[in-house]
Amino acid sequence: MQSPSHHLVVFGATSFVGQILTRYLAEHFGTHGQLKWAIAGRSEAKLAALRNSLGLGAGKLPIVLADAADEAALRRLCRDTRVVISTVGPYALYGEPLVKVCSETGTDYCDLTGEVQWIRRMIRAYEAAARKSGARIVHCCGFDSIPSDLGVYFLQQQAHERFGQPCTEVKMRVKAVRGGFSGGTAASLLNVVKEAAANPALRKEIADPYSICPEGYAPKVRQPNVKFTEFDADFAAWVAPFVMSAVNTRIVQRSNALSKQAYGADFRYDEAMLMGRGLAGRAAATGLATGLAGFMLAGALPPTRWALERFVLPAPGEGPSAEDQRRGFYDLRFLGRTTDGGTLRVKVTGDRDPGYGSTAKMLGQAGACLALDLAQSGRKGGFWTPATMFGDRLIERLRAHSGLTFEVLED
Ligand SMILES: NC(=O)c1ccc[n+]([C@@H]2O[C@H](COP(=O)([O-])OP(=O)(O)OC[C@H]3O[C@@H](n4cnc5c(N)ncnc54)[C@H](OP(=O)(O)O)[C@@H]3O)[C@@H](O)[C@H]2O)c1
Repeated sequence: MQSPSHHLVVFGATSFVGQILTRYLAEHFGTHGQLKWAIAGRSEAKLAALRNSLGLGAGKLPIVLADAADEAALRRLCRDTRVVISTVGPYALYGEPLVKVCSETGTDYCDLTGEVQWIRRMIRAYEAAARKSGARIVHCCGFDSIPSDLGVYFLQQQAHERFGQPCTEVKMRVKAVRGGFSGGTAASLLNVVKEAAANPALRKEIADPYSICPEGYAPKVRQPNVKFTEFDADFAAWVAPFVMSAVNTRIVQRSNALSKQAYGADFRYDEAMLMGRGLAGRAAATGLATGLAGFMLAGALPPTRWALERFVLPAPGEGPSAEDQRRGFYDLRFLGRTTDGGTLRVKVTGDRDPGYGSTAKMLGQAGACLALDLAQSGRKGGFWTPATMFGDRLIERLRAHSGLTFEVLED
């Protein structure tokens, strides 16, 4: 068989996050270096304009045309690459044909979806095909859920070194974060809320902490979940719900399930935002929790959803300014506890705003890791998680090239 022309193709290169990603790939890998890559999407004019904006001519960066609904075009795209990165979302609306084609053709794939209900549908529909063809499918390769999934993985590696056992209870707390969100993210979030509002079975599925674990996997452990506000004595602060926890906790539980319960059969994990101490901390936590609940309610009701889309949220293609991306950052704290009472604290930070500047760098390195580091790794086809597919390899790349830190905090 002829080897593919590209190591990696960015499908949806014209999206808000896709444009940041292509600039990052161009600056980091060039166009004729170790990574041979191309941009893809449905509009030749927009892709050519993107290529021009990078100062690259036609001979420098190939363009591949494909509509997200055109399986024949997606098959041609897959035939000519090792890995596809997709930023075409909402994935629940546009993403399935590409996952299907990658699974059937043995093409590795990673994306930025945070739509758990869709991930579950894709696993159920295409895992058998991916296993057969050898395609490695890795969802959630952005802020959700790489820092959480690799943060827990890193903590557990350290726990094994120090205690000879995993931490069966881990908490992730967002200490600080600065960033905004884009039209695509807003549309994806609203689509989940809309689907769930109309479907009680889906609401139950979304509430299941093991919803994307392999079928039949259901440990008898009650998972903690910060639903409103509470005082967290481990962090001596009030906490409020973290909007991404509904995705991240599911990915972390799938990592535990896929790694034969390396974190323990009764592993408990939750995420929340640290809001400070005393009355001020409590008031801030209540304000955030109330605002989040109000947003979910507004998104569930058609008239207020329309108003949100029309007047409040960014439109497709819009997102935080370059200056806001540059000034953004995040600081995540993990506390792990073993069954013997050993504790371990870990800190994961990222430069740039989490959803775009940092996400683009994480996604680019995840794609490069699949295309370059793991091409011959012998890792089998199937639906993986960032921690189970990439582990230490990606931590090294993120530390070296994506502005992330992973460190143990000594008491
Ligand atoms: N996990 C994370 O941390 C994270 C962070 C950021 C974003 N995201 C997710 O990433 C996705 C992209 O977000 P965004 O704000 O960058 O999106 P966006 O700016 O709205 O862009 C959407 C992209 O989809 C393309 N597209 C739409 N329909 C298509 C079709 N039929 N065929 C081919 N391409 C099609 C658009 O192409 P045209 O340009 O031709 O219209 C555009 O490139 C969203 O699902 C968002 O939730 C996740």
